Amino acid sequence: MDTVDWAKLDWNLLWKQAKRKKTWKSKKASDWNNKADSFAKRTASSLYIGRFLDLLKPRPDWSVLDVGCGPGTLALPLATRVRRVTGLDFSGRMLEIAEKKAAKQSIQNITLHHCAWKDDWQAHSIGRHDVAIASRSLAVADLKAALVKLTAHARCLVAVTDRVGAGPFDPDAFAAIGRPLSTGPDYIYTVNLLYQLGYLPKIDYIELEQEVCYPDEREALEGYLWMFRDLDTEERKKLKNYLRSITTLNRDGSVTIHRRRPPIWAFISWSPFPGQVDTAKNTP
Ligand SMILES: C[S@@+](CC[C@H](N)C(=O)[O-])C[C@H]1O[C@@H](n2cnc3c(N)ncnc32)[C@H](O)[C@@H]1O
Repeated sequence: MDTVDWAKLDWNLLWKQAKRKKTWKSKKASDWNNKADSFAKRTASSLYIGRFLDLLKPRPDWSVLDVGCGPGTLALPLATRVRRVTGLDFSGRMLEIAEKKAAKQSIQNITLHHCAWKDDWQAHSIGRHDVAIASRSLAVADLKAALVKLTAHARCLVAVTDRVGAGPFDPDAFAAIGRPLSTGPDYIYTVNLLYQLGYLPKIDYIELEQEVCYPDEREALEGYLWMFRDLDTEERKKLKNYLRSITTLNRDGSVTIHRRRPPIWAFISWSPFPGQVDTAKNTP
């Protein structure tokens, strides 16, 4: 019988191999710029924000680094609960939205930087913070390098969210238009890699809404189109038909999409000190 020696598994290599098999293309900064306004609108009322904050348990004395902060989904509510927040993102449009929202809410303890995971953060004067987070933003070429870099920027706690299975993709939509869906590596690679690096990651799960409300059919379609690249006319028609089959019309003219399975995110947190469980020991 063949045997597998788990200690010899290279989880970063396995992750890279699985990533090569994914059917969707990684998004560039320009893709996120195009998506920024609709993403900001869609995510603003999601229960994701409350669940993430409940799990993170922010403390008033914390400084928090938010990598891939997007339109300030977490950076802004965090800024009202902690001492200061630093957000970074490679999408200029995402940062513009975050900046506008901060001004509207008179939030002044947030600093935003236009830079990428792979950039030299020191050149932007981004140093260590009490807590470093990356929410739904582990879109990197080298997972190990990203986790090591994020951990090195935290004094007491690191937290990321990573896809469970298909995550926000709807496998039924892919089946409906006849496209294969291989979403690539999910959170289990991240957990194993952290373990191999000597950390003790804790896992919680954030289950999102199974039913999502949109102002109209057009916006519901927008909420699905990001999952696909280059849909032809026939595929677009099939996607519309699929959406109609899972849509109910509300009295006020809005529509509700009923997904068969809700998207799930893994909330993974760890102490930046290898082998240490109690992150409270390091709090400032
Ligand atoms: C799904 S959004 C998540 C935004 C926010 N953290 C949230 O949870 O709502 C992913 C964000 O990561 C950013 N991002 C993706 N790849 C990045 C990279 N290589 N460097 C910096 N930001 C990146 C995108 O521009 C986008 O704003």
